[in-house]
Amino acid sequence: MSQRTLVILKPDAVKRGLVGEIIGRIERKAGWTIPAMELRTLDQETLEAHYGEHKGKVFYEPLMGFMASGPVVVLVVEGERAIEGVRQLAGPTDPIAAAPGSIRGDFGTIVRENLIHASDSEESAERELKLFFPAL
Ligand code: PPS
Repeated sequence: MSQRTLVILKPDAVKRGLVGEIIGRIERKAGWTIPAMELRTLDQETLEAHYGEHKGKVFYEPLMGFMASGPVVVLVVEGERAIEGVRQLAGPTDPIAAAPGSIRGDFGTIVRENLIHASDSEESAERELKLFFPAL
């Protein structure tokens, strides 16, 4: 089942020069493609729309501040079971709990700076793809 998912390489990934490494892992998955990709600095309105479901949680403000702290790379990944697949490549939210071999497990230490966002369901993917790439 081919799917599209929305991926954001967070400001820490860009600042640390890990974009090529992370995209390389995505590109090496058989049959997956990247139909759109862009370097952007996310504005408040986009961030509120993207993370609105977390408003009120303790991590909401730190997350918003962090995501606005520098440019990110926003991309679409397309291919067989891409939604679940990119989440597997990323590993769980807490990089210390993430297994070595995953992106967060290999490169992260603190939860806020966990390198990558990936849509967590078909519904989220549809909403996030519309928000970041309305013309696609
Ligand atoms: S929840 O409540 O289970 O839905 O939360 P979770 O899926 O674990 O995380 C939702 C997003 O918030 C980020 N997050 C944080 N950011 C900054 N600081 C802290 N402490 C923190 N905890 C969670 C987490 O990385 C998720 O962001 P995305 O961009 O979706 O990865």
